[in-house]
Amino acid sequence: MQILRCESIKKSFLFKNKLSTILEKIDLTLEEGEFVSIVGSSGCGKTTLLELLAGITQPDSGDIFYFNELITGKTGILGYMPQNDLLFPWLKAIDNILLPCRIKGEDIKLARKKALSLLPVFGLENHADYLPWQLSGGLRQRVALARTYMTGSKVWLLDEPLANLDALTRNSLQGWLQDIVPKLGLSVILVTHDIDEAIRLSDRVKVMKQGRFEGGIEIPDNIDETLQIALRNKIRQML
Ligand SMILES: Nc1ncnc2c1ncn2[C@@H]1O[C@H](COP(=O)(O)OP(=O)(O)OP(=O)(O)O)[C@@H](O)[C@H]1O
Ligand SMILES: [Mg+2]
Repeated sequence: MQILRCESIKKSFLFKNKLSTILEKIDLTLEEGEFVSIVGSSGCGKTTLLELLAGITQPDSGDIFYFNELITGKTGILGYMPQNDLLFPWLKAIDNILLPCRIKGEDIKLARKKALSLLPVFGLENHADYLPWQLSGGLRQRVALARTYMTGSKVWLLDEPLANLDALTRNSLQGWLQDIVPKLGLSVILVTHDIDEAIRLSDRVKVMKQGRFEGGIEIPDNIDETLQIALRNKIRQML
């Protein structure tokens, strides 16, 4: 079943009296349980698209639907983890994770109980009381992902969540994401610069070039090295 759809999205920005069209004719669908990655060079409009989907900004034209309900410009429906996600430095990991619940005015005692029971899923059971600066980069990203989970949304919009991590940590977090996404019943749109990461994690990879989608590639399960190379080359050619 289709969980998310955007149709004919157009977005321009006015900067120093000059209007630039950043996104044009953007159509995108996400099925329930699907993992779709968006790859594209820096500045092509990936974050702009996620912000639109998250409802933080409004498109010039076009619509966004969540289970056929029009959600254009509505926040709080999809779980959004922004690029360079900043945790509040004065809040412990658990309190950063609970932020969406506070914003929504939920019963914090109950939410804390739920969050604490979820910490092992995020590998954070020993770090609930750590402040962000006391956590490693990988652990901080897990806190940010747990916070996204606490929004309660079954759709995650992740903007380069594993960027700025060393290769080993990144590799292990990719494996972990692969594991928890189906476990938590999530559907994901991931923005990444890393083509291999997109191939490893996704059911489908969309290539964005200068504010338009160039096309999409279905990623089969259990791909061998030869297919991996072929898919990587195909995506590179589209970029
Ligand atoms: N609020 C804004 N006002 C003016 N221009 C903006 C604004 N937000 C984004 N842009 C411009 O839109 C373009 C796309 O930006 P965006 O952040 O979506 O790129 P991106 O694909 O996410 O890049 P990166 O991979 O570097 O994160 C850039 O040229 C950027 O300068
Ligand atoms: Mg970006």
